[in-house]
Amino acid sequence: MTRDSRVSRRIASIAESATLAVDAKAKALQAAGEPVVGFGAGEPDFPTPQHIVDAAIEACRNPANHRYSPTAGLPDLRRAIADKTARDSGYGVIPSQVLVTNGGKHAVYNTFQTLLDPGDEVLLPAPYWTTYPEAIALAGGQEIVLPTTAESGFRVTVDQLEAARTSNTKVLLFVSPSNPTGAVYPPDEVEAIGRWAVEHGIWVVTDEIYEHLTFDDHVFTSMPAVVPALAERCVVLNGVAKTYAMTGWRVGWMIGPEDVIGAATNLQSHSTSNVGNVAQRAALAAVSGDLEAVAMMRDAFARRGKKMHALLSGIPGVVCPEPEGAFYCFPSFEGVLGRELGGRKVSTTLELADVLLEQAKVAIVPGEAFGAPGYARMSFALGDDDLGEGVGRIVDFLA
Ligand SMILES: Cc1ncc(COP(=O)(O)O)c(C=O)c1O
Repeated sequence: MTRDSRVSRRIASIAESATLAVDAKAKALQAAGEPVVGFGAGEPDFPTPQHIVDAAIEACRNPANHRYSPTAGLPDLRRAIADKTARDSGYGVIPSQVLVTNGGKHAVYNTFQTLLDPGDEVLLPAPYWTTYPEAIALAGGQEIVLPTTAESGFRVTVDQLEAARTSNTKVLLFVSPSNPTGAVYPPDEVEAIGRWAVEHGIWVVTDEIYEHLTFDDHVFTSMPAVVPALAERCVVLNGVAKTYAMTGWRVGWMIGPEDVIGAATNLQSHSTSNVGNVAQRAALAAVSGDLEAVAMMRDAFARRGKKMHALLSGIPGVVCPEPEGAFYCFPSFEGVLGRELGGRKVSTTLELADVLLEQAKVAIVPGEAFGAPGYARMSFALGDDDLGEGVGRIVDFLA
């Protein structure tokens, strides 16, 4: 490359978000009149609860919300997030440990920019959410991928972490409930991993965005709550998108030690400044309200997850672990690869996703996007009828 390159090497190396790309393709086909069923986006189909929308309407009318506000977030919202974290996770923090960001994704970006120097290694259990490796690379970090399998419940072990640890290891990325696998770590495993991190001075970036979406006996455990000594080297990522059906409002946050939050706030002060005040007021209503709407949505997701799991498990060659949390099934399609499907040989899940979209009009995200070829991610955050119709089409197509 020369200085004439139109796009910098750093930015040219970023892969497009596979999940958003699949969703965009599905939505474009839908707009063109094609009856596409989209299992691509991790987006609840419910509208945002009314009291949250009302708070935003009210906020629009107040001129104070028409102005710049503090970069780190409205003081009321930072306090409410600290209170909500104590309420939901049992993790006590103060408002100055909270930075309000433009969605959870922005919190991921800010966190790695703030923590990593070139060459720092980040332990990244796979299958991983597609944004993590890009955010790590953009910060000059080096991802160290730790594969997990359906047999081990898609959970990494302390032995695996220890085997991957080097003198350059700075951070472990931890997410439970997991996107894309739907796996939930039991409390004793969360604690064991937290203790290992403290013992070796490893930072933990723990993504808690699906904290309220766990099914049956599976429970969410916040790592710094069960291992308080971790707080000095821990960043919690969270947001309103998944819990309150607020994907479009773009409010997330990071919680960490005050020096890290201060540094991340400086970064944000030169990029996005404050998150839109109206969206912050909506988020304030969300996190300080009760969890009634959340419970209703969780019950619906639990029901749909069981239905999708049962339908997929009935397809010869498809193996689908039962989702424990979040709103994704992560089936293996390895048993159907290598076959002739829809008039073409399909050898990878990338090709399978392509042919399914073209011919069966069903959008799934191929496992390649998550470091797990042979698998695919299918969101069950869509309506019951669409879910049945979409999986039915896959059944027919593979038959
Ligand atoms: C694990 C995980 N973290 C963070 C996010 C970010 O959510 P948002 O940027 O919509 O708040 C997502 C969204 O898909 C996610 O799945």
